Amino acid sequence: SRCLQAVWCGRHPAGGPSPLWKVTIMPDTTTANGKRRPLVMGNWKMNGRLARNEALLTELKAGLASGFDAIDVAVCPPAPYLGQASKLVAGSAITYGAQNLSTEQDGAYTGEVSSGMLTDLGVKWVLVGHSERRSLYGETDETVAKKTQVALEAGLIPVVCIGETLEERKTGDTEVVLARQLDAVLPVLGSQPASAFVLAYEPVWAIGTGLTATPEQAQEVHRFLRDRLASSGYAQAQEARILYGGSVKAANAGELFAQPDVDGGLVGGASLVANEFIGIAKGAVASLGA
Ligand code: 13P
Repeated sequence: SRCLQAVWCGRHPAGGPSPLWKVTIMPDTTTANGKRRPLVMGNWKMNGRLARNEALLTELKAGLASGFDAIDVAVCPPAPYLGQASKLVAGSAITYGAQNLSTEQDGAYTGEVSSGMLTDLGVKWVLVGHSERRSLYGETDETVAKKTQVALEAGLIPVVCIGETLEERKTGDTEVVLARQLDAVLPVLGSQPASAFVLAYEPVWAIGTGLTATPEQAQEVHRFLRDRLASSGYAQAQEARILYGGSVKAANAGELFAQPDVDGGLVGGASLVANEFIGIAKGAVASLGA
């Protein structure tokens, strides 16, 4: 069941020939055998240089050229390199996303990047509310909800990141924190088809630490999130994709993705190493056979 999404683009400021509506065919989130289609996404964070990006994307393009039709693969380079990425992945199945977007449209917002700029560059996905944005740049649940809405309005697919800190896990507050973070975006996501957004569970204590959640820990939280989506009245909870993030690497991807409610990964450090990222994508393909 493919879904058509119409996005109001407004009038071109200079009266130029811009379309008033952009109609997008939303990708299906389910595979032929009824499983959710895995998504493996690399978050490069603030890493990259022209030469390095070219080498990495060239290797990924070659390594992912065949055998990966059943999954979605994406990279999220820093904003200045999105144009470069668009050229380098052209003709491949690799898509690309941004790591952040502004709550505002064009205007006097020095240093910000708007949703319109991202769609102009052919960007498909955008990370929203990554824990580093929340902890280092003061993004609140309200900011995250607003950015999610702005992304959806532009036809971008927000990858909404949520996760508890080690302190919160230790005090037994994991579900309280995740419920609060999820509930903040539910009013925005609730009216959307499952193909319009992605959730990413990233326990803060597992990010960049080498400490991965065990497959059981990940599954427990993913199930909790899907149940909460469903109990909130969201009709497509079974189709919504929930990624796991936090020290995912080729060696642990298979067992994480084999969990019934883990629909792929959001990968930091290992996404900068071609063989690691390709190995993680293989884990996602293998999970479909499991
Ligand atoms: P690492 O894979 O480096 O732990 O980072 C996870 C992450 O934050 C992805 O968004």
